[in-house]
Amino acid sequence: MSGRVWLVGAGPGDSGLLTLRGLRALESADVIVADRLGARGVLDGLAADGVHLDAEVVDVGKLPGHHAVPQDAINALLVREALAGRTVVRLKGGDPYVFGRGGEELFACQEAGIEVRVVPGVTSAVSVPALAGIPLTHRGVATSFTVATAHDQLLPLGGGRDHTVVLLMGVGTLAQSALTLARGERGGDCPVAIVEDGFGARQRVTVGTLATIAAQAAERGVRSPAVVVVGDVVRLSPYAPAALASLDLTFDPLAVPRKAPSL
Ligand SMILES: C[S@@+](CC[C@H](N)C(=O)[O-])C[C@H]1O[C@@H](n2cnc3c(N)ncnc32)[C@H](O)[C@@H]1O
Repeated sequence: MSGRVWLVGAGPGDSGLLTLRGLRALESADVIVADRLGARGVLDGLAADGVHLDAEVVDVGKLPGHHAVPQDAINALLVREALAGRTVVRLKGGDPYVFGRGGEELFACQEAGIEVRVVPGVTSAVSVPALAGIPLTHRGVATSFTVATAHDQLLPLGGGRDHTVVLLMGVGTLAQSALTLARGERGGDCPVAIVEDGFGARQRVTVGTLATIAAQAAERGVRSPAVVVVGDVVRLSPYAPAALASLDLTFDPLAVPRKAPSL
């Protein structure tokens, strides 16, 4: 009898942001096929909290620019383990369906006749900006947002500063993306924040504008993983310098420092 595959979103790397359903799936697993980003931090966090998981853990983590295990091989591994009758959890960073290739893994398993269950996760696109006190929408400031990958060259995105843009995988192409976005309605002085390694040991926030952010990032040695947020919502962050944060707004995010420790 074949097993089953759970596609589980691990969230951005803090075990507190794994869902209860995700935890139950992990507890039922014979084998956990884990990403590097997000998933590894969650497994380590659970172990530190005394949660014991019996499953064998297979690390298929990808470093930026290095595909440790090619996607086809990951798909084949999921199918092979499930056909051998095992319960497999594919633990993926953030949400499986947000730039996570979760759909490809789902279809590969389904084509092999394997039952798949999906557990959504907390995406970094929303949770990492929140660490810097940045809501993606805010009444009177922004009413919509776009999440885009800037892994390759970013295409021009319509809208002004009231339409927040969130870039994932955007560190390597930051200068080009900033130029592209500044050419539109947003302009060079549109606020930008970069949040590196959210929930991790290297967590750090850099705030600037589309005109300045590439130079700031180079100077500070900004590294992946990072989420880039573009738009007027950045002004709401306690990390925003006074010159940027001059909007007259009442915003009091719980548990976010009113004054940034450092910029
Ligand atoms: C391949 S995408 C996967 C996104 C994931 N499925 C999600 O929903 O968060 C990886 C990118 O997500 C972002 N990312 C994921 N976790 C992050 C974290 N803890 N801190 C900063 N950025 C993160 C970075 O832009 C990274 O390059």
